[in-house]
This record gives sequence, C-alpha cells and structure tokens, in this order.
Amino acid sequence: MDTSQMTHIQDEFDVSLETVEDARSLQDLKVRYLGKKGRVTGLMKEMKNLSNEERPAYGQKVNELRRNIEASIEEKSAEIEAAALEERLKNETIDVTLPGRKFNIGSQHPISRIIEDIEDFFIGLGYEIQEGYEVETDYYNFEALNLPKSHPARDMQDTFYISEEILLRTHTSPVQARVLEDRKGKEAVKIICPGKVYRRDSDDATHSHQFTQIEGLVVDKNIHMSDLKGTLELFAKEIFGTEREIRLRPSFFPFTEPSVEVDISCFKCKGAGCNVCKQSGWIEILGAGMVHPNVLRMAGYDPDEYSGFAFGMGPDRVAMLRYGIEDIRHLYTNDLRFINQFKQTEDGGENVESI
Ligand code: DAH
Repeated sequence: MDTSQMTHIQDEFDVSLETVEDARSLQDLKVRYLGKKGRVTGLMKEMKNLSNEERPAYGQKVNELRRNIEASIEEKSAEIEAAALEERLKNETIDVTLPGRKFNIGSQHPISRIIEDIEDFFIGLGYEIQEGYEVETDYYNFEALNLPKSHPARDMQDTFYISEEILLRTHTSPVQARVLEDRKGKEAVKIICPGKVYRRDSDDATHSHQFTQIEGLVVDKNIHMSDLKGTLELFAKEIFGTEREIRLRPSFFPFTEPSVEVDISCFKCKGAGCNVCKQSGWIEILGAGMVHPNVLRMAGYDPDEYSGFAFGMGPDRVAMLRYGIEDIRHLYTNDLRFINQFKQTEDGGENVESI
C-alpha cells in the first residue's frame, strides 16, 4: 500500500492551515479536504478499488488522516473564535473614568405650568376638561354666544377670518356652546376649557396675536351668582395666596347677564398700592357672569329650568403676574435664556421667585 499520497495530503493541509486567519477561509479549507468532493473523501472512495486484504489497513490510515485533519480544523476554529472574542472585548472596553455626557433637561413652559395648576384646582372641584377647535366657525365663536352677525360687540375681538364662516377662535367661549349643544339641553355641565386663541392685534408688551385662555362653565338647576363668587374666591386663594380677596365689578359680555369683571386684591402690596396693581390695590384677572338665557336657549336648554355661570381668564396674564414677567412676548419667543429660568428644582418646586 502506498501511503505517500496520504502523507502528501497531510503536508499540504498543514501548510494551508498555516495561512488560515479567519473562520471563512477555515471553512473553505475544510470543504477542500473533508467536503463531498474533498481530497480525503476522494481517498475514501478509492477503497472500493482495493482488494479485501488491502482494505482494512488502508481504511485505518485514511481514517487516521481524516481525524487528524478534523482535529486540526477544530483546534484552529477555537483559536479563531478566541481571537475574535479577545478583539471584541478590547474594542468594547468601557473607560469608566471618562466624564459622562451631559443631558440637557428641559423644563415646563411657564404657561403650561399655570394651566396645569388651574386645571388641578378645578378638577378638585369636580370639573371636566374639554378642548375645542382653534379653527372655528363664525357660528360657535360668535352667533351661538349671542353675538349675531354685525353685532357691535364683535368689535371687541379683532378676528382672523379664514373665510366668511370660518375663523381662528378669538376666545375659548365657543367650547361652551359646543359642549352645551352636545349635552342636548338635558345634562348638567361643569367644565373648564384651556387652549390657544387668536386676535388680530399688533404684538406689543401686553398684546400677542396668539395667547391662551381658560374658559369655565357650570350649568345646572339652581346655579346662582353666589356659586360663581364662591368658586372664584376659592380659585383666587389657591392660585394667588390664601389671603387674597376678590371683588366683582359690573361689566358687559354678550354671552352673560349680568356680567362682571373680577379683581383680586394685590398680592404684592396687599392692597396698599404698588406698580403691579397700578396703585389701586386690585388686579383685574378675569371676566365672568351668569350664562345669558339666549345662549342656553340656542343650545337647547330651557332657561326657566337651567341656569349657569361662566368665566374666562388668561393664563398668560396669571403667569406674568405670578413671575413678574413684564412683556407677554417673552412667553412666545422661546428664548432658552428666558425659559430656562423656570426649571423645576429636584423636589418639584420652583426655582423662580414666585408669589
Ligand atoms: N370670552 C371673553 C373674552 O375673551 C372672556 C369671558 C368673559 C368668558 C366672560 C366668559 C365670560 O365665559 O363669562 O374676552
């Protein structure tokens, strides 16, 4: 039996194995020697041409060769894997001494904060929060609120019209009309409606073409002016401090009768007179009144059975008063130097001096 061929194959394999550096070329080498058409497999196929005497010794030799080659491949494979692991560990090393990356933590916008505070207060009194549409129809923004077309009181609110019938809402009051209509003249209503509103004003320190409002509406049987006054008194104490008092002055809104303007006693000078209250001791904070019978009627409520109160206030103004902000435009220009002053402290408190 000539075993020189086998020795030759083994030698050649050994040389090739030396050059193998990765799993892929190792696999190629394996196929070349042990695969279906591999060289060792070829030797095994030769067996059938041998005599019975020659076969066992030959078989033994070929098997030995195959086992050698298999063992070498396995060993190499383990080496390659170990090297790859080593390399990966080296690349993934974390240097725990490196300084961390600094995250910029955002803060709540002062208006959002005020709106949330006001919402919390009214939710505590059992109010629901309702949102309407910023793009409204003339009907809900005006007509359903007792402001028919060409009513002079429409002049109080310079309006961005999109078409004759569609506009950007000038106040959050249309939500009143929509909710009343939805409840079909039967159910009681107790809602507040925060949201953005728009007016065709030239922007200056106290005017912005877009600002925010919170509307409130309570409709039920036996709702009186005293309910309105009690609610707003509690509100003033909650938002502006427990010593605050309120006063109601007669006013006019087409959707309420009677209508009032509501002032709070000045939180800065406590009534003595200062720059915040313009020396009067009082600060105007909202408009309110008893829901006009026409508004109830148009939404399907019987004014002889139901009555209600409504109010509208500006969170922008509350924020300006609370934080001493002198120009409403600061609230809308998103200058980080301004907004960052309202970062909350770790315990959830405020780091700006507030009332
Ligand atoms: N909608 C009024 C405005 O924008 C504010 C207002 C006043 C709302 C009296 C009311 C109210 O609900 O009763 O000027």
